[in-house]
Amino acid sequence: MVQYNYQAPWVPIFNNCVNGELTATDHKPPFTTFQLATIDKKSGYPKNRTLIYRGWLFNNKSSNVLIFTTDKRMEKYQELLLDDKIEAVFWFSHIRKQFRLRGVAKIIDNEHIPNIDLSHINGNNSTNNNDSSNKDSNIQNNSIQSSLLSPSHVDQKPQEDNQEQEDSHIDNVHNLIPPTNKEWEEELKRNWNDLSKTMKTSFRKPYPKSEMNDDNLKLISKIQRGVDGKKDDDGFKNFVVVGLFINYVDYFEQDKDKRFIYELNDELHWEEKEVCP
Ligand SMILES: Cc1cc2nc3c(=O)[nH]c(=O)nc-3n(C[C@H](O)[C@H](O)[C@H](O)COP(=O)(O)O)c2cc1C
Repeated sequence: MVQYNYQAPWVPIFNNCVNGELTATDHKPPFTTFQLATIDKKSGYPKNRTLIYRGWLFNNKSSNVLIFTTDKRMEKYQELLLDDKIEAVFWFSHIRKQFRLRGVAKIIDNEHIPNIDLSHINGNNSTNNNDSSNKDSNIQNNSIQSSLLSPSHVDQKPQEDNQEQEDSHIDNVHNLIPPTNKEWEEELKRNWNDLSKTMKTSFRKPYPKSEMNDDNLKLISKIQRGVDGKKDDDGFKNFVVVGLFINYVDYFEQDKDKRFIYELNDELHWEEKEVCP
């Protein structure tokens, strides 16, 4: 029996933490931030930065894939092209819980889509949806074993975090497909459309980390005043959604001094255990 469209055991706990912290802070700020560490292959050093958590891939908690958005001109983008391994940490200071999430980060933009391998579900035939011969040779083209299905397979009825959910099962497992190119494209647009007008302007600002000079100062000022002669959607070409495909979770309840490890095994089932803090 194949399982799909199920929340990993840590997902409802994580969602409760996100919501609990937002409530405890009266939604000020109205978003959740986290730190994402990448590996900078060029320097050999880890790189870490603060990002805004943008929810779940395809707006579906059962994807088990967290997303953030970024600009393809930023250094993390180049780092993820060379090495997709990441660790994300969320510290929910008011409710005193910490999540450390390890996995791989897959880029969704006008050049890349995640190469989802459903062969563990569909049998031995690989169901890769990417023709890697058409792509540049970067690590992002490596397939990832995941139970992520096309949203067309997914029952869209909303799931309650606390509700004991019934896993979806399927006996005829040969018709399952990963998200299609069109669905990835729609997901990119959905996230772009969710951005505020101000956020959209950042994607047409001067190249991040380029030297500040008079020309750049003037351009930034024009963009801020909305007189740079460009439309909001001009920044879309630099817009990137990144999906975090998590395979290991270290959850620490500082308030109760309890620690739990969740690990995705070779059969893509989650194993969970309590460990000493
Ligand atoms: C509160 C806060 C939220 C941020 N959110 C994002 C974000 O969602 N995406 C992003 O690319 N950068 C975000 N940044 C900026 C990053 O921390 C970082 O400075 C920038 O992305 C450049 O990182 P890089 O050079 O490692 O690519 C945020 C910074 C702060 C302080």
